[in-house]
Amino acid sequence: MRKTIIAGNWKMNGTVPESTALIGGILNAGVAGGKVEIVVCPPFTALESAGKLLKDSGIGLGAQNMSEHKSGAYTAEISAEMLLTLGVTHTILGHSERRQYHFETDDRVNRAAKAALAAGLTPIICVGETLEQRDSGDTEKTVGDQIAGTLAGFAADLLKKTVVAYEPVWAIGTGKTATPEMAEDVHRFIRGKIAALDKEAANLVPILYGGSVKLGNAGGLLTQPNIDGALVGGASLKVDDFVGIINAL
Ligand code: PGA
Repeated sequence: MRKTIIAGNWKMNGTVPESTALIGGILNAGVAGGKVEIVVCPPFTALESAGKLLKDSGIGLGAQNMSEHKSGAYTAEISAEMLLTLGVTHTILGHSERRQYHFETDDRVNRAAKAALAAGLTPIICVGETLEQRDSGDTEKTVGDQIAGTLAGFAADLLKKTVVAYEPVWAIGTGKTATPEMAEDVHRFIRGKIAALDKEAANLVPILYGGSVKLGNAGGLLTQPNIDGALVGGASLKVDDFVGIINAL
């Protein structure tokens, strides 16, 4: 059985006091330790305080990105080791906002994912098509290339420790969501692509959906056979909304 994961991507939101309040609210809601694996991904500056609050809580702590390098002259970059010492367990990689505004490529994501796995962090690798690509019938080509590129050279044992997030770019922060059927089609396609790399891994890799997930649409999406959880942006910034999505499961 695959894990069900609800991860909150806070993006560039949350000072340390704000993050502390949000995590306090999630802890108070008593949702940890159930059948859903919960991960919160605050900004880098709040990871240390978040790590202290979440220690032994059963809730995972994710970074929103990570360097592919171990250390050295890479100004403003953050390494796996730095994250590990703060209690970080996961890292988002290749989010479409990183691809769009910071020109991140599948190659870079691939190298960073390998570095994360080597250090014992779980990468959450994001893929997804733009509206233009969907409208021109290129969804599978785009997502297929992103899966092939980001997972290139992964041995089966590493593949099995990886999480993938399908986030159609046109659905992120726009209020537009893929219908459960549209999302399921792409999730099934992604699982097929992973199966071509390793069959057993394909059954184990959780594939999360992301893009305007909220309380009202989470149920329909998360009951699809190949949707194993959600990467939640906007709705992860309010305790009631985030906890509501977890409880809906
Ligand atoms: P959203 O963001 O839920 O605000 O659309 C999701 C994401 O970008 O991970």
